[in-house]
Amino acid sequence: MTSQSSTPIPVASRVAGFTYAIRNIVGEAQKVEATGVRIRYLNIGDPVIFGFKPPIHLIEAVERAMRDNHNNYSPSPGIPSAREAVAADFTARGLPTAADRVLITTGTSEGIELALNALANPGDEVLVPMPTYPLYTAVLAKISAKPVFYRLDPARNWQPDLEEIRSLVTRRTRALVVIDPNNPTGSVYPTETRRALLELAGRHGFVLLADEVYGDLAYDGPVPPMAALDPDAPVISFSSLSKAYLAPGWRAGWMAVGRSARLDDLMAALRKLADGRLCSPVPMQYAVTAALTMDRSHQVALRADLRARAEVTVRRFNTMPGMSCVAPIAAFYAMPRVSLPAGRTDEDFVLGLLRATGVLCVHGSGFGMAKDGGFFRVVFLASPVELEEIYDAVAGFTERFLSA
Ligand SMILES: Cc1ncc(COP(=O)(O)O)c(C=O)c1O
Repeated sequence: MTSQSSTPIPVASRVAGFTYAIRNIVGEAQKVEATGVRIRYLNIGDPVIFGFKPPIHLIEAVERAMRDNHNNYSPSPGIPSAREAVAADFTARGLPTAADRVLITTGTSEGIELALNALANPGDEVLVPMPTYPLYTAVLAKISAKPVFYRLDPARNWQPDLEEIRSLVTRRTRALVVIDPNNPTGSVYPTETRRALLELAGRHGFVLLADEVYGDLAYDGPVPPMAALDPDAPVISFSSLSKAYLAPGWRAGWMAVGRSARLDDLMAALRKLADGRLCSPVPMQYAVTAALTMDRSHQVALRADLRARAEVTVRRFNTMPGMSCVAPIAAFYAMPRVSLPAGRTDEDFVLGLLRATGVLCVHGSGFGMAKDGGFFRVVFLASPVELEEIYDAVAGFTERFLSA
């Protein structure tokens, strides 16, 4: 006889609100793959799976750290050399930063999660762009805080509408998320917009969370950190080795909290929360020091590679009947739009494309867009030759989809 019941172990209700389209759609792709179709994974922004490699001196820094037995826990905010390197890098980019305002994190993702946990109580509101990078809504679902979406306008190169953002501020607004340069649109905001967003945060007393993970990947050269425009504004800046240093699997990132005394309590709260996870992976913290103090000439070639891929992407989507695409000027994402027949959704298009061609994109509604808007995100890290081939398949499918 067994004393084991077969009643399922209950899971917490917060999980029901947690979705992550970029990963969720992979399950569907695996089913298609099982039927023998080759999948082209244009769903996730990982340069390494497309052949890009981190600079060798970063690999050596990690290897050396392991051999020198830096396999211990570090202080929870990070090793001093990495915190100092982050502070010096921000300072060199026009944002005076002290090392004691820096935390080394397990990727930008952990920094964002720490910040939202430190800021928002259940029911509090966080202004989030639409389309958004889905981590924000996922974390807010976990902590029972509320995303309030502000639109990025494809008719204006995916810029935010400042008036709309102002109208969405309430007593419960705790933070404004700004992703600049942007995923999923590839846009960069003009200085006046950045200045206005900083001013809004300062005036209303909420924090601007500046997600700057693509800051070095604007095709015309690095974009300065937003807070350089006003180092006294209430800003936390986030970045990592994942994109511009081509090491997403290392999970190495950082956050810098603005110098304003208004942020002192928040800094203390972040440190307290950071203590609870002990530290981020220590050998990779040595790579943060190396990345920010040594040669970064690989980024010149990387930006040129991305520009070339963006050009192919925009040319091809803007010449497909029924399709249009705003030109990205940073990062490796584009958000084309297909003019959906009545009654069809962006997910119908993306799943149809996947099943017919093996090309895996993410539907716009996975980033918070309306299901009938026809937007979907393409990650264009494959080589230009391969992209041409992929876009041939997309064009063929689109023609059939629109004429069905
Ligand atoms: C806008 C944005 N923020 C954060 C992240 C997460 O980056 P990390 O690997 O540093 O956690 C990504 C990854 O794609 C991203 O696009």
